[in-house]
Amino acid sequence: MMLPENRAALLLAPMQDITDLPFLRVIKAMGGADLYVTEYFRVHIHSKLDPYILRSITENPTGRPIIAQLIGKDPNELSRTVRDLKNYPIAGIDLNLGCPAPVVYRKQAGGGLLRDPDQINRLIGTLRETCGELPLTIKTRIGFSHPDEFARLLEIFKNHAIDLLTVHGRTVKERYQTPVHPETIREAVHFLPCPVIANGNVVNVTSGLTYLEQTQAAGLMIGRGAIRHPWIFSQLRAALSKKPITVVTGKMILEYIQILYDQTAREVPKFNELKHVQKMKKYLNYIVQGHPKEFEYEIRRAQQPKEFFRICRSFLDYSGPAPDLPCENSRLFCGFSQFL
Ligand SMILES: Cc1cc2nc3c(=O)[nH]c(=O)nc-3n(C[C@H](O)[C@H](O)[C@H](O)COP(=O)(O)O)c2cc1C
Repeated sequence: MMLPENRAALLLAPMQDITDLPFLRVIKAMGGADLYVTEYFRVHIHSKLDPYILRSITENPTGRPIIAQLIGKDPNELSRTVRDLKNYPIAGIDLNLGCPAPVVYRKQAGGGLLRDPDQINRLIGTLRETCGELPLTIKTRIGFSHPDEFARLLEIFKNHAIDLLTVHGRTVKERYQTPVHPETIREAVHFLPCPVIANGNVVNVTSGLTYLEQTQAAGLMIGRGAIRHPWIFSQLRAALSKKPITVVTGKMILEYIQILYDQTAREVPKFNELKHVQKMKKYLNYIVQGHPKEFEYEIRRAQQPKEFFRICRSFLDYSGPAPDLPCENSRLFCGFSQFL
């Protein structure tokens, strides 16, 4: 329904405070993904639809479908939110079963729900009913503490006839600091009638193709690797159709940083240069990985836009290929070498 028919699908992973409307515009400008998922709408007794997240739906700039993601634990409140969202042009509802942040999982939402499969069963049952014809998708990790927990989850997903499953191939306890478990995702691919998307640790074309091969998934969802190299979707699309792959150069990254700066600046009501440089550092954290360590250190100290762009130019103003991979075991990228 929402996926390309003759090749693996490529999805941008939802990332809180990152994959907002301006970032979607930038991703689209760099080639774009096939399908998008919003940052999560928090759902609780007093929750209202966050107007900023809603804009990525009402002003969806991607030309592709977008699914609204929810995080919460109460079936009635989740249902109420689905009914509200049905007034907007969404391609489906996604339930978050993976967030490992302790403030979330201790409240039995996100990844915390994985400790209570019976509650997941109730939630998905209610959501399935409220969604009706609207596709219901799930984004999950493979368990809370151990991959053995996954089989029970798969049975629940199958019973409720969900429309698509994305699996981040780690447990909640593994957070982001380990390799992923491709064999577990493959189990889901074989067990479920719906498409299964593999997520976690795709950082370049090779890692993406290997993950697809090892899981036989219907597609890939990419998060941090897409902040670092937003061209990863067009590169993978080319690789999947046996076409030449564009090589990312230093200058391309420089241009990407400029576009990101301009697009995110556009959305700030009271623009403040110093604050904006701080905001850019959130993206740069990922972008600098794989480049000389000094780039990261110097950017951390930047205050003024002029200084910020001078540092970027001093490390990126070249027409040759940029590093294809981040460093393995950096603070933000770990365990991907299992796919190289
Ligand atoms: C900064 C950040 C924010 C995230 N926010 C969300 C979110 O709102 N919803 C969600 O399902 N996953 C969220 N995730 C998890 C990602 O969607 C993805 O599952 C994870 O990063 C693994 O994929 P990757 O290795 O391609 O980054 C977030 C991850 C990061 C790094």
